[in-house]
Amino acid sequence: MSRAQSFGAAARDYHRFRPGYPAELADVVLAHATGPVTRALEIGAGTGKATRLFAERGIQVTAIEPDAGMRTVLEAGTRGLPVTVQPTTFEEVDLARLGPVDLCFAAAAFHWTDPATRWHRVAEALRPGGVVAIFGAQTVLADAALAAAVAAIEAEIEAEIEAEIEAGIDGTIADLAAPYLEPVDVPELEAVELTVLPRRAEQPADDYVRHLATVSAYLVLEPDARASVLARVRALLPESVELVQDIDVQLARRR
Ligand SMILES: C[S@@+](CC[C@H](N)C(=O)[O-])C[C@H]1O[C@@H](n2cnc3c(N)ncnc32)[C@H](O)[C@@H]1O
Repeated sequence: MSRAQSFGAAARDYHRFRPGYPAELADVVLAHATGPVTRALEIGAGTGKATRLFAERGIQVTAIEPDAGMRTVLEAGTRGLPVTVQPTTFEEVDLARLGPVDLCFAAAAFHWTDPATRWHRVAEALRPGGVVAIFGAQTVLADAALAAAVAAIEAEIEAEIEAEIEAGIDGTIADLAAPYLEPVDVPELEAVELTVLPRRAEQPADDYVRHLATVSAYLVLEPDARASVLARVRALLPESVELVQDIDVQLARRR
């Protein structure tokens, strides 16, 4: 199993234990476009956490999601909203058929797409003045000592994770610390802007650990290995943990 395809197995937990996105994020994204935003293309919609944010504002969203497990939750959660789900990847979607959109967005998903083509395809998908929004949030323990202790456990299992990762799909636990953002590298996009929306949360430690179990680096582990490492993490934690869940946002506009 590749990491990019690892999420579906835990789609329900993914939906339950990963945080959604606030209305403020949609405000920031929509303000960056020139002209009205009525049609959007979403890359890697997953269970629909960001899909709903825009669809609930009446924007028609074509939501691309290659994973069947994720799509089941996505389709159930967006019923009645102006969302069309396409069971494909960003590399394969027929952009000419879709026609130019006002907004192209990827929530915690752009880093899974092909670096050689993704920015060209974003530029191709957008109308002039349309906006691209690449964003994502990591969940980090606010207590630095606890965070370091969990990182030490993760470092120990790094080799095991590497062994599980399909050849050609890059990624290590260290990548989890890398932003979801990928630098814009095509001349058709301008007005590049990076923003951080700060966010904090308090969560029962059990829920935090169940959230960790939805992170791809853990998902690729064998079930026994995953259970044992998560038990070690849980043993370190108090009943309730404070989390930093800042949202990194990168915006750009089509010339
Ligand atoms: C970490 S999840 C993010 C899901 C959702 N956007 C969210 O914020 O909760 C990444 C998603 O990208 C999807 N994905 C992986 N490779 C993709 C590709 N090449 N094109 C489109 N989506 C892809 C995965 O199936 C997964 O649902």
